[in-house]
Amino acid sequence: MDIHSWSRPDRIRVRHLEMDLDVRFDRKILAGSVTLHLDRTEGDELVLDTRGLTVHSVENAAGFSLGTADANLGAPLSIRLEPGASWVRVHYQTSPGASGLQWLDAAQTAGKRHPFLYTQSQAIHARSWIPLQDTPGVRVTFRATVRVPRGLCIVMGAALEDAGESTPGERHFRMDQPVPSYLIALAAGDLAYREIGPRSGIYAEPEMLERAVYEFADTEAMIAAVEQLYGPYRWERYDLLVLPPSFPFGGMENPRLTFATPTVIAGDRSLVSLVAHELAHSWSGNLVTNATWSDFWLNEGFTVYVERRVLEKLYGTARAEMEAVLGRRELEREMAGLPLDDRVLHINLEGRDPDDGCTLVPYEKDALLLRTIERAVGREKFDAFLRSYFSHFAFRSITTADFLEYIRRELPNSVPLGEWIFEPGIPAGAAEPHSDAFARIEAGWPADTSGWSTQEWLHFLRTQDQPDMARLDREFLFTASGNSEILHDWLLMSVKNSYQPALPKVETFLCSVGRRKFLKPIYSELMKTSEGRTRARAIYSKARSSYHPIAQGTIDEIVK
Ligand code: BES
Ligand code: ZN
Repeated sequence: MDIHSWSRPDRIRVRHLEMDLDVRFDRKILAGSVTLHLDRTEGDELVLDTRGLTVHSVENAAGFSLGTADANLGAPLSIRLEPGASWVRVHYQTSPGASGLQWLDAAQTAGKRHPFLYTQSQAIHARSWIPLQDTPGVRVTFRATVRVPRGLCIVMGAALEDAGESTPGERHFRMDQPVPSYLIALAAGDLAYREIGPRSGIYAEPEMLERAVYEFADTEAMIAAVEQLYGPYRWERYDLLVLPPSFPFGGMENPRLTFATPTVIAGDRSLVSLVAHELAHSWSGNLVTNATWSDFWLNEGFTVYVERRVLEKLYGTARAEMEAVLGRRELEREMAGLPLDDRVLHINLEGRDPDDGCTLVPYEKDALLLRTIERAVGREKFDAFLRSYFSHFAFRSITTADFLEYIRRELPNSVPLGEWIFEPGIPAGAAEPHSDAFARIEAGWPADTSGWSTQEWLHFLRTQDQPDMARLDREFLFTASGNSEILHDWLLMSVKNSYQPALPKVETFLCSVGRRKFLKPIYSELMKTSEGRTRARAIYSKARSSYHPIAQGTIDEIVK
């Protein structure tokens, strides 16, 4: 049972969806229908998840009713089935404030000429644009027909059936591999496409395409690296969609089509660990999926582990170790501010929004656990274990208990798993990542920084105890940095240390980027002083409308 869904897949399970949707930029809604194909085990009541949907009618049913909405879960849609009916069709439309949709005006795009729409369904936002069983424990295949105004391009995390577009503005998609609802994705805008490898390419606004093609040139090598480690890529194509800067995440692993923030396009390929990460989800997450959001660590931590193995294969151990040390330190910092219950891998989310569980704990603590197991049993054995794990559970959704049973059988007595998974903090005996380059940085003011990687700059900034802001800026020009990660760290330090010359840049940054990981720390830091609060509120009143509903929710809490 998934506490974040009203549905009862144990009684009636949705197996396949047929969507038919109009993208109405004029009203900021999706309107149309979804046909749900069912496996019936028990009873005649099908319960779907919805949030903010208007249901016009349900075809092939004896009746329907929309329950009262819960703040976290939305409203259950109960459909009374005819005896023996194996499908129903829901006619509906979304609301303009749908939590899983962001409607961008032309001004918020790179090209400034066309509006843009994209979905973000994880964790439980698919229900705000499709009535369905919105739990990662249920997988569906689907087909979709989607219509957009002429001149716009529409893409989905699915196979495109007719690139020729027999009807202008209408496209047909299909997904034959069963996927959980949080991976259903769609975007529409002025998009161009360029092949970058035998099974990959980039979708982006035409203005962004060239830079993105350069930045993500290693994609095919990354796919080949994971295949070599953990078995075949099971989704045929791997494309990337570069979104406008308001995208609230770094990346989202939508199947066949990763959604990515443009803030990783640094011009020097230094932030491509994001591609390694989202690609790795094609195994950990998309192939083997967390059955509930309490099992989220099975998705993210395994992905971080695989991501670093890819970085190691492509760019060497030194680079992978730097990323591991940065992750380890950030984990320590974030965990110190979390309640004990949130420092465990298998988190209790009773009465909470699953997005609350999205801290660095499921990412970095789990990656550390896997590294510790690797050290205990040896790399060869652990690689073989992961390879068999991904194929054993392929296209299934599993719980923490399923994982435990499997690893205890396949790799007995590796590390104290119970302590790692159910208790707070980092157990004694954890592997400790180490970087020689970072050790040199910690030794004192650097003599020569030529050839430093982005990761070294980040470590340098993060280890300044009492920073001489003016000197740092004078010698290294941080306020002018074009690297979003370095700039973010620098601006955060500038707020902390009241470094006035960088404050105008804080405003420009917060008004031009919507990535929550960047917004949250800076707004939180501003809110610590009365002058900062005034500044935060002034900036937020200008920037808010450009943020995604998910980011608005987070920053509303901070700035209120
Ligand atoms: N699947 C996540 C993003 C996500 C998690 C969205 C939970 C909604 C709820 C994605 O794979 C991810 O982890 N993205 C990271 C980047 C990554 C390099 C660590 C992000 O967006 O910061
Ligand atoms: Zn991830």
